[in-house]
Amino acid sequence: MLKATSKRFIEEEYHIEDEALNASLFTTGNGYIGVRGSFEEYGSLRIQGAYIRGVIDEIIEVMEPFPDNEYMKKYYIDEDKLKEFEYQDSVINNPDFLLIRISIDGETFYPWEGKLIFWERYIEPETARLVRNVRWENSKGDITDFAFERFSSYADDHVYCLKVKITPVNHSKRVEVMSGIDKRVKTGGQKITSLLSESVKENMTYVHTLMGKKYGFETGITTVTNISPAQVKWNGKSEDGLIYNIAGFESEKGREYTVEKCVHIVSSREGDVSVPHEETLGYDEYFNRHMEKYGKAFEMADIHISGDEKADAGIRFANYHSLISASHTDSIHSVAAKGLTGERYNDFVWWDCEVYQLPIFIYTAPETAKKILMYRYRLLEQSKKNACEAGFKGAKYAFCSSVEGDERVWIYARHPFMQIHINADIAWGIIHYYTVTGDIDFLRDYGMEMLTELCEFWKSRVEWHNGRYEIRCVTGTDEHHPYVDNDAYTNYLVKFVLDKVTEYAKMFGMENDYSEIADKLYQPLDKNGMIPQFDGYFDLSRSLEEAGGNNAVNFQMKSSGLYHKSQIIKQPDVMLLYSYLNINPENSDYAANWDYYEKMCESSSSLSFAPHSICSADNGRMLSAYNYLIETAYIDVYDIHKCGWQGVHSGCLVGAWYAVFRGIAGIVCREKHIEINPHMMPWWEKVEFSFMYHGAKFSVLMKNGEYTLTTDSKDEVKVIFNGNKAFVSSEKTMTKSM
Ligand code: BGC
Repeated sequence: MLKATSKRFIEEEYHIEDEALNASLFTTGNGYIGVRGSFEEYGSLRIQGAYIRGVIDEIIEVMEPFPDNEYMKKYYIDEDKLKEFEYQDSVINNPDFLLIRISIDGETFYPWEGKLIFWERYIEPETARLVRNVRWENSKGDITDFAFERFSSYADDHVYCLKVKITPVNHSKRVEVMSGIDKRVKTGGQKITSLLSESVKENMTYVHTLMGKKYGFETGITTVTNISPAQVKWNGKSEDGLIYNIAGFESEKGREYTVEKCVHIVSSREGDVSVPHEETLGYDEYFNRHMEKYGKAFEMADIHISGDEKADAGIRFANYHSLISASHTDSIHSVAAKGLTGERYNDFVWWDCEVYQLPIFIYTAPETAKKILMYRYRLLEQSKKNACEAGFKGAKYAFCSSVEGDERVWIYARHPFMQIHINADIAWGIIHYYTVTGDIDFLRDYGMEMLTELCEFWKSRVEWHNGRYEIRCVTGTDEHHPYVDNDAYTNYLVKFVLDKVTEYAKMFGMENDYSEIADKLYQPLDKNGMIPQFDGYFDLSRSLEEAGGNNAVNFQMKSSGLYHKSQIIKQPDVMLLYSYLNINPENSDYAANWDYYEKMCESSSSLSFAPHSICSADNGRMLSAYNYLIETAYIDVYDIHKCGWQGVHSGCLVGAWYAVFRGIAGIVCREKHIEINPHMMPWWEKVEFSFMYHGAKFSVLMKNGEYTLTTDSKDEVKVIFNGNKAFVSSEKTMTKSM
């Protein structure tokens, strides 16, 4: 397991069995591409991975050996339909351009051969570099130091750079370097790609690949390698699986030799792939350019915590992963459940995107947030078709959204089209973005069109029943209970959206008015202030009696299939209303609901931990808030769900930032003011971070029992701090006792 030090996590020993998990954790990327932490000297299948956002195609669905559970059998009456799914869309693995193999006196360096005298590997969250320092002895006793580093440029989507410093410690033997591209990669164990063309000359290699037949995307990868200060003569070769350049030199003991490899990657989704791209600026220049952009982005998202190294290191790591999960340059694709750190979850864009992943960008990089929303705008036309095909009006977005916006199936959830809350989540994302940024141009030019189409969908989807509007037969956020009526999360959020859009429509002089439906839409609430997650929820069993000898810990659906008879939930639904959406349902009892649903939640979706941290903080249970925060930030470092090797849980990790911002610092930004109800972690000495609100930068400092808010806003901004009004501006700082 990685060790947490003050600012980062370090792998201090090489263990072959940790390779797959650590490859996810050590992914380098820039939101355009994600490159797993496999080794330069050898990328094993299923460990190597280089994924470009939205470069997706079709793979054969390989089922895991568990039976469809009972609710599926009950509702998928159409057996043939269930068996129809043979293919699924998936992100496709690119040829592996990390390949740099070094041999000393004829023996190739591999961590599993010879003797490892020293080993450390870590991500530097503040530079987005993956660093590996190794001292290695070959079978002849020749000791050599290798210092590897690599990064994906935040300044240029298409640039990836690697460097290896080689220092012979006790010898002056011949060193040979092989650098190029491994073409033999697979996706989901299947060979999907095919080579269209390639070329190799001296220190350059290039491959042009077809990434699958369904969408027909292509990619072009060029590598250029240099060695200094040695004088070398390169040779280029292409074999079946590898294309590479090779060069050798007589080394001198104690002298440092540097191999630099600059890679250019482009896909046909945004550029010309058909010719090699040989010009390079060199590692150092690329690194400087990268830092100019990335350094600022990281600093803006960074949260400094004093008095708790564990939390500090965890949040820095989580923020790093959040930054490399989202494209900040275009809207061709959007943020996926595993970012670009693995194949699982297929690079689909889920509801995680607007509810969980978007906030950090709204508050720290609004331009990126806008790009994320523009992906949905691009898919509006298809979403209208989806609605029409399902017999409704307006726009119905895919729950598992891929290239074209039609509904894709996913191996673990065959009922994605039931999770129609996605159509409220996207609206929520737009409203949240506008509320915090005040970007009226976006709202007018793009947002309103999406919002009204979404409201038209809801208008046609609600049913008049029991003298009120109801939303029947849906799957809420809790996937253990599909096919329910009046899911609390869905009904409350839809009302909120209908009201907001009616208000916005008035502001723009539009005629759309959804108030009649909003007013009469059933908002589940019992007399005692408890919110039933759906109709009949409280009548179900309070335990989960498993049948069928299930021992799958984290499968989406345990094979017992008894969840629909039980109150045990997979992930929060009701509690999201209070924590993430900040819709505190009137007359409901927050503490009582939290107490109850916390016990009922199995947290078998990692999307549980951050909302739970916030609910605990809001209710003053700070130890609990802390434990959930740690589970949020350490979900994959501790491999809590035992599947970190498949890629990190991006929607969970991003919650670490939000749990501090919303839970501990207690901030809720409303359209005309900021609400603050802080809950400082008792043993933390200091918390410091910044965020953007209405175009101005705000900085928070929580220290010595005091809460200080500063801003560069020229205009006064109203703050309600623990219920008391205050104003802040560039002239006026607010300091209050917590
Ligand atoms: C969760 C969903 C989520 C999906 C992708 C599932 O396990 O239950 O809520 O959207 O994973 O993260």
